[in-house]
Amino acid sequence: MSQPSTPPQYTRNPPLEEADLLADPLAQLDSWIEAARAAGMIEPGAMTLATADAQGRPSARIVLFKGYKEGGVCFYTNYESHKGRELAENPQAALVFWWDKLERQVRIEGRVEKLAREDAQRYFQSRFRDSQIGAVTSRQSEVVATRAELDARFEANAKALEGKEVPMPDCWGGYRLQPESVEFWQGRGGRLHDRLRYLAIGDRWKIERLEP
Ligand SMILES: Cc1cc2nc3c(=O)[nH]c(=O)nc-3n(C[C@H](O)[C@H](O)[C@H](O)COP(=O)(O)O)c2cc1C
Repeated sequence: MSQPSTPPQYTRNPPLEEADLLADPLAQLDSWIEAARAAGMIEPGAMTLATADAQGRPSARIVLFKGYKEGGVCFYTNYESHKGRELAENPQAALVFWWDKLERQVRIEGRVEKLAREDAQRYFQSRFRDSQIGAVTSRQSEVVATRAELDARFEANAKALEGKEVPMPDCWGGYRLQPESVEFWQGRGGRLHDRLRYLAIGDRWKIERLEP
């Protein structure tokens, strides 16, 4: 890859000071997601979810942030997917947000727990009908022989469910990641970026500055 003539300078924001942070890291995260939305980012809630299997082999993919529950960060998916199987074996996971327009990153590490089925149900019912039928149709992460096979299965489900409420599949649901640490990174000139990390100590948060 060729080098850009001028690398990004990360000078958009004023310095990130300890005094700028809210006491609760999830309230702070919320304010950064809202800032990314206000900056016109299409998916300000897109976050990379890293999981690992029981042997510690990692895998990562993007999922959408869907709010908070009992102090945890929520997302929805298929429990039988690659990530779902890894989370069943090893509930430790990490999330990363990156908002290029704001030159900001947030990293969260912790343990995931499944959300109650009623919570998933509430969210599932709020989704577009095509997304609901998609969730019924997709055996997420399995190999499918052809695109046509998948489309035919979708059409068959759409027909069978015509005029009916789409039932949430048993294998579909949500997780909440209970943060043990949350780091707020903001770009600065000279590659001396600001990094402030909240660490959970019992029921309190300790904020530390990390070297860039
Ligand atoms: C912007 C974006 C948002 C996504 N949101 C979700 C999501 O909320 N839930 C989900 O299961 N997959 C989501 N995906 C698809 C995942 O990245 C991934 O392809 C899928 O979950 C299968 O991952 P797995 O095989 O590792 O389980 C999203 C992908 C993108 C690019």
